[in-house]
Amino acid sequence: MSKRTNSVLVFGGARGIGAATARAFVKEGACVTIADVLEEEGRALAAELGSDHAAFAPCDVGAADQINAAFDIAIQQFGGIDVVFNNVGIARYGTVDQLSLEDWDLTLQVNLTAQFIACKRAVQEMKRSGGGVIINTASILGHASQKTTAAYAASKAAIMGLTRTVAIDHAADGIRCVSISPGTIDTPLVQIAARTFKDRRPEDLEREWAAHHPLNRLGKPEEVAATVVFLASSGAGFITGSDFLIDGGIRSELYA
Ligand SMILES: NC(=O)c1ccc[n+]([C@@H]2O[C@H](COP(=O)([O-])OP(=O)(O)OC[C@H]3O[C@@H](n4cnc5c(N)ncnc54)[C@H](O)[C@@H]3O)[C@@H](O)[C@H]2O)c1
Repeated sequence: MSKRTNSVLVFGGARGIGAATARAFVKEGACVTIADVLEEEGRALAAELGSDHAAFAPCDVGAADQINAAFDIAIQQFGGIDVVFNNVGIARYGTVDQLSLEDWDLTLQVNLTAQFIACKRAVQEMKRSGGGVIINTASILGHASQKTTAAYAASKAAIMGLTRTVAIDHAADGIRCVSISPGTIDTPLVQIAARTFKDRRPEDLEREWAAHHPLNRLGKPEEVAATVVFLASSGAGFITGSDFLIDGGIRSELYA
């Protein structure tokens, strides 16, 4: 019997890095389930990619049952789960004396606990099917920090610890688990952030953020997507537990 087409579940796949990754996987011939809170955008992307290769799962990763429902939809549509891309991330800003406990809890729930829940289900499914790949999204802010990002930075650093442990616990099950750490990538998240500083023009801010990277530009979602597709491929078969910086060199420079 021929092996069925790879089934990929992308959390936060409606826009930004997740949407670029969904597109890249379909281009490789995979089937993709896009799980997201943005129903209109997610359904439109799934329709654009075609029902043979893409499905949409309405999902708020803040709720465990919705994460599991997205797995159910992917399995029902495409016969199993081979790759899970945990890509949802939100940021709440504030120094620790100002940041509310609610914002801290929400950030950890959406960025970290959701990835734990998705790893748990992915491992259960992949053990049954003989293996798979889990790719978790950390951040450059998991490696070095910026002011007012305590909650986000803590969640992203913890993702690397989760990833390493899943990798060593389940290597013998044929499961690889890796994380990625993007620098500043030109996505709606960053474009919205650039518009929140009322006293600055968004294009000036984006130029400034670009200049912090030795490559002197923002990254493209497609560049992150290409790394994720590689990490999911058999060519990356000896890679597990590691984190991949896709950061235009920003982590390599001590003083800009
Ligand atoms: N863009 C960057 O500069 C950058 C840098 C480092 C890390 N990252 C990380 O990359 C990932 C993707 O970032 P992006 O820039 O593409 O962001 P984005 O905001 O453009 O896209 C994120 C997607 O996640 C979805 N989402 C948000 N909350 C959700 C929830 N509770 N449940 C389900 N879906 C939800 C959004 O609807 C959106 O489709 C995040 O984890 C982010 O922390 C981004």
